[in-house]
Amino acid sequence: MSKTLLNNLPSFTKARRRYPSIVQNLKIEVPSIVSAKLSGKFFLIKTFGCQANVRDEESMAGLLSMANMRRTEEEKDASVIIINTCAVREGAEQKIFGQVGNLKGLKTNNKDLIVIVAGCVVQQEESLAKLRKTFPYVDIFMGTNAIHKLLDLIALRITENKKVVDVPSDDADVYENIPVQRIAPHKAFVNITYGCDKFCTYCIVPYTRGKERSRLPADILRECQILVDSGYQEITLVGQNVNAYGIDLKDGTTFSYILEEVAKLGIPRLRFITSHPWNFDDEMIDIIAKYPNIMRKIHLPLQSGSDEILKLMGRRYTVKDYLELVTKLRARMPDISLTTDIIVGFPNETEQQFLETLKVVEKVNYENAYTFIYSPRKGTPAALMEDNVSREEKGERFNKLKALVDSQTEANAALYVGNEYLILVDGYSKKDTSVLSGYTESDRVVHFVGTPDLIGKIVKVKITESRVYSFVGELVNE
Ligand code: SAH
Ligand code: SF4
Ligand code: F3S
Repeated sequence: MSKTLLNNLPSFTKARRRYPSIVQNLKIEVPSIVSAKLSGKFFLIKTFGCQANVRDEESMAGLLSMANMRRTEEEKDASVIIINTCAVREGAEQKIFGQVGNLKGLKTNNKDLIVIVAGCVVQQEESLAKLRKTFPYVDIFMGTNAIHKLLDLIALRITENKKVVDVPSDDADVYENIPVQRIAPHKAFVNITYGCDKFCTYCIVPYTRGKERSRLPADILRECQILVDSGYQEITLVGQNVNAYGIDLKDGTTFSYILEEVAKLGIPRLRFITSHPWNFDDEMIDIIAKYPNIMRKIHLPLQSGSDEILKLMGRRYTVKDYLELVTKLRARMPDISLTTDIIVGFPNETEQQFLETLKVVEKVNYENAYTFIYSPRKGTPAALMEDNVSREEKGERFNKLKALVDSQTEANAALYVGNEYLILVDGYSKKDTSVLSGYTESDRVVHFVGTPDLIGKIVKVKITESRVYSFVGELVNE
């Protein structure tokens, strides 16, 4: 008899296909065996990767708290440990192997501990096979579309006394009414789309997250209204490409529409991530400019400053399109803060093409940029391209780009000093609990001395010192 229940195994062939989606309004019940075994006990979730994974953690935490479990940060106290994984680059994936490996000792000492590996790494056929082989003590492997089944999978694990694998690649449904336990008390992520249909040639996300699908406006607005009513100060609308919101609903619903409707709910701060430069239209710019509660901070991934490379990446815009968009945004909102993602060393990138990227970075002058060395992801078209650029060359280019980005970040950070900004106070500073920390409208972190009653409020702070990636300030008493 097999010791593993294989409900679903991932398949890249299936993951490449796009399926119709149905909105599933769930009625979740806690299986009695889960209550009996786990009620009153602790869970720990370690999340890697992007906002989509963070929001998934909140759903998993919501489900576990339905079973009367509580969160802990201490591995030794936990009865359920979930590693929520990211596969976007080799380095991210390697980290996961280390994390899961570290749990072996705990599992040996505590046979009742349930170890679950979830997220994007599990969605890859080869990685899952390797994880299963290397870490036979993992109890449940659970895909990105199986989150709503968490309690049932735990119940299966206990009643059948078998390992469980549930990683579908062909499920494009939208699951509503999954309970949520938010990580932050003042700031919340709200999914507007799941998956991605862009298929940039280097990227694994369309395979690990499946078809691009939009939640219904009413469901998004309901979630946002609850947040507003419970005093949340900031909402970030999340999607791999938020601009594509509504396309699959085929009824004319657009991202501009949902952005405006959420802005109208009166949340003090509204953000969105990520917007693709390709279909960032004028209506979106109008809405951002019209509502002061939509933060003037946009993450606009460039990826490369070479038209040839952009074409090979399948990004569907040219450098000219990108720069025109930047010009338009800055013409309408001179104070807008722009950040970006850039990949160096895409297969066969020439020195000239790399220099073109530097040129665009110089022109745009980003507030901050996330830079990556291209990492081949098995199953993506780019991974099949022959590559004549050496690792050393890629490293050198990366360092040059990083130096340019750092100098821009430093110079832009220096401009804050002496000025006053509105800060949403998040909590205590990680390093010093006598100090508060919060975020500017441009999403920069500021530390300042203040009383705990300010936590969760928006206050004015004068920046006195730049530490480049953070600021020190003084509360302005009004
Ligand atoms: N949906 C978002 C990005 C998700 S991945 C978007 O389109 O902007 C986050 C970033 O990781 C990407 O913007 C890209 O710069 C980087 N990235 C993705 N795949 C990569 C790869 N194979 N190698 C290196 N960087 C990669
Ligand atoms: Fe990946 Fe491109 Fe989709 Fe972003 S838009 S998630 S980079 S495929
Ligand atoms: Fe990583 Fe998956 Fe997000 S691969 S970046 S966690 S969608």
